Amino acid sequence: MSATSVKRPAPVADLDWDSARMRSLAERAVGLYAEYLDGLDAMRIARDVPAGRVREAVVRPVPAEGLDDDELIDHLRDVLVEWGVQCGHPRFLAYVTGSGTVPGAVADMLASAVNMNVGGWQLSPSASEIEMALMRWFCDRFGMPATAGGLLLSGGAMANMVGLKAARDHAAGWDTRRDGIAAGPPLAIYATEETHVVTDRAADALGLGTAAVRRLPVDDGLRMVPSALAERIAADRADGVRPMAVVATAGTTSTGAVDPIEDIARICAEQDVWLHVDAAYGGPAVLADDLRPQLAGVEHADSIAFDPHKWLYIAQSAGCVLVRDLQHLADAYQVHATYVWQDTERTGAGVSLGELGPQYSRGFQALKVWLSLLAHGSAAYGRRISHDAELARYMAARVEERPDMELATPVGLSICCFAYVPEPPAAAEYVSRLNERIMTELQLDGRVYISNAVLGDRFALRACFVNHRTEADDVDVVLDVVAELGARLDGEMR
Ligand SMILES: Cc1ncc(COP(=O)(O)O)c(C=O)c1O
Repeated sequence: MSATSVKRPAPVADLDWDSARMRSLAERAVGLYAEYLDGLDAMRIARDVPAGRVREAVVRPVPAEGLDDDELIDHLRDVLVEWGVQCGHPRFLAYVTGSGTVPGAVADMLASAVNMNVGGWQLSPSASEIEMALMRWFCDRFGMPATAGGLLLSGGAMANMVGLKAARDHAAGWDTRRDGIAAGPPLAIYATEETHVVTDRAADALGLGTAAVRRLPVDDGLRMVPSALAERIAADRADGVRPMAVVATAGTTSTGAVDPIEDIARICAEQDVWLHVDAAYGGPAVLADDLRPQLAGVEHADSIAFDPHKWLYIAQSAGCVLVRDLQHLADAYQVHATYVWQDTERTGAGVSLGELGPQYSRGFQALKVWLSLLAHGSAAYGRRISHDAELARYMAARVEERPDMELATPVGLSICCFAYVPEPPAAAEYVSRLNERIMTELQLDGRVYISNAVLGDRFALRACFVNHRTEADDVDVVLDVVAELGARLDGEMR
């Protein structure tokens, strides 16, 4: 080394933990994870406490000097177990919330440890290739062609938004990215009253405005009516509006209804309109032989929103958008930045996934999905997805044999909607209010956790089976708790 008079900075190694230091914390964390798995069934799912009390219990000042491992683990136990909500608990059946797989959690830790940036191929060659392969595997499951591909995103909201952005830029007929949407005729999106509100958010964010979303009425099964769709498209065209995309839902959030995708696809082909399928919840039905026929026609989609963090049981967050031609994502998102210059001659042209969507730097989210699929195998997924639908049907059958409950809708995929009905009978408006109170009390009770659907003017209780830990005994407990709370609250409210 050449002599120098320049003062050399001394090392600052406080943040640089070696493997022994890592082990000390990580092995304690694994112990906490084991404690969680062993104790989950007996845990309270949620607590009946006000926000201020939670804040007091979990928020602590950031110390100037780091805490020791025992203090860190005690804090993690407080945050994650004592004061958290246990969405992975076998009797958590609310919203559409995946339960979280063990291989996924392990993958998350290691993906963070190695920390590739999956925005650029050269920063993440293996991770980028895994994400591409995973997306291709999903596309194949949906029956999409060889040109198809996709991108992992944070969840259904972003997946629908990116799918509709690709639709806008492809279907508008002018350069929307350069000139904006004001440079052409008004654009319209076709959905139903049951379509998830993220379609409205996407229309807003894409500059169309929420009024561009045509909320078509539904049939008795809460599905899109193809003839009404065709009529509305024709009426819009006559008014000088350009139909941009149809959003068909494969598994609505409230009841699990599946729009008639085959018929909708036919209309989209005839009318040359982009078909986007929101399969954020119901998509995994394609992995279960008995459920797959319900999604017939999904192979015609131009884009699909599909969330591994729902019915593939992956921990939040992991959604993806799949497009019929990967080029559509490049057309919607590619930009040129001089500061991300990359060689393509020596390494070949790997795809930089940051060019295909709204995020530039990206983590290796795909690993938790990939490792879960590798560890469990697709057959186990198919069996469990089918079993979830069976549990929803079991719940419906149990509801039907009880005098104090009634089914609110037929089971759709793996969702059962029902209501507690008091004795003596009461007005519908009272029954709705009673069920609303039941849900609130039940979510604070801690033994079980379900959510609701509003069907017309009726408030229904709703159990969504996307939890790989739930079994028939859990369903029985949910119904018993509903009956217990229903009888008590009815007594208080009359
Ligand atoms: C059909 C459907 N689409 C979109 C979403 C929004 O997904 P996320 O909450 O992952 O953004 C949901 C959420 O439940 C959904 O069920």
